[in-house]
Amino acid sequence: MCASTSRPSRAAGNRVAPVSDAPRIVVLPGDGIGPEIVAAARQLLDALGEFEFEERLMGGCSIDAHGTALTDEVLEACRAADAVLLGAVGGPKWDTTDPDAPRPEQGLLGLRKGMGLFANLRPVRPSPALVGASPLREERIAGTDLLVVRELTGGIYFGDSGRSGDVAHDTCEYSAEEIERITRTAFEAALRRAESSGRDPHVTSVDKANVMETSRLWREVVTGIAPDYPGVALDHLLVDNAAMQLVARPADFDVIVTENLFGDILSDEAAMLTGSLGMLPSASLGADGAPGLFEPVHGSAPDITGKGIANPLATFLSVALMLRHGLERPDEAARIEAAVDVALDSGLRTPDLAAGTPATPPMPDVPAEVEVGTAEMTDAVLAALSN
Ligand code: NAD
Ligand code: IPM
Ligand code: MN
Repeated sequence: MCASTSRPSRAAGNRVAPVSDAPRIVVLPGDGIGPEIVAAARQLLDALGEFEFEERLMGGCSIDAHGTALTDEVLEACRAADAVLLGAVGGPKWDTTDPDAPRPEQGLLGLRKGMGLFANLRPVRPSPALVGASPLREERIAGTDLLVVRELTGGIYFGDSGRSGDVAHDTCEYSAEEIERITRTAFEAALRRAESSGRDPHVTSVDKANVMETSRLWREVVTGIAPDYPGVALDHLLVDNAAMQLVARPADFDVIVTENLFGDILSDEAAMLTGSLGMLPSASLGADGAPGLFEPVHGSAPDITGKGIANPLATFLSVALMLRHGLERPDEAARIEAAVDVALDSGLRTPDLAAGTPATPPMPDVPAEVEVGTAEMTDAVLAALSN
């Protein structure tokens, strides 16, 4: 399938022969808390085995150095890597409404388009230790295990946009082909998930077909493809209703497939089911054999940059996705996920998680919560990994 899990072939194209067998990872720390969480993630990878890292500038840091958020050299390096690991980009230093000024986010969008990363997987599975950290009641969260499959290289993000005097426009455009490939990614993900969960596979397609022509095409194409996957149930939700259902009955969802902008918004909302945006990882995948990009869903968090308190777990879980979907090392991916759970089970919480926790005294068999920073959380995951 497209956007699948195979390891990229090193023989592809005219790449230079590798000097070692270690996977080659281009690392893009980016801006804000990006460098803090990526440094922690590199410690994790170092503890797992041998990896060849190539650290490059992308985002605001690249604008400062080169005047553009993504240079051709960095895009080429990413295309030639086995996988790309990204922190986050952007921040107030580069915020501007001047349409001609370079913006850090253009680098990320350029990478997604330039690497053909049309499928963005955002798994939402609250760690058992964190069900109390969500602003939603525990009984609502219980059993939540869903996957947002976000289309990543089309829609309003990449349509024509511009300004003429005091009028501006952004155009949303989708082709049937773009909708078909992301739909197949979603159905195949549902089948794979059912193999391990034992649940009946179920895809929910989210659109705005009551208003938008692109959504009507979306619904038509998704409906037309569903018979190819007779074992997978399909339903459709309008995006406003989906936003509500996601917090009303999150455990009923399995795979949610949606277009670029809706997926961006719904996945930040879904992050709160896990207790914090600092917990949600993502994998951006393209054609078979092409390298993927792995990054936390959150941004550069300028409000906490440099304080040593950023939650590194979304990045650690993104490293797990990189090992599973990008490097065919599922056992190590599972080890990282288990180590994250162990650190949380021991009561450690970065402030983003601690803030949402009820102030009730812990049960006798539940460890008290301890507020920690990035370094202590990283050490705890490293310790759990080596046990
Ligand atoms: P944000 O995700 O950076 O932050 C939202 C809130 O969540 C903030 O209060 C922040 O402190 C908190 N938060 C986020 N990640 C955290 C973590 N790991 N640990 C603890 N708390 C965390 O969103 P924003 O403030 O809207 O955007 C800031 C900048 O990041 C903008 O320039 C935006 O364009 C950019 N951004 C980049 C990416 C990316 O690089 N993939 C994603 C989203 C936003
Ligand atoms: C995300 C981010 C990006 C997006 C921005 C930074 C361009 O919010 O990855 O979710 O909107 O896709
Ligand atoms: Mn987003």
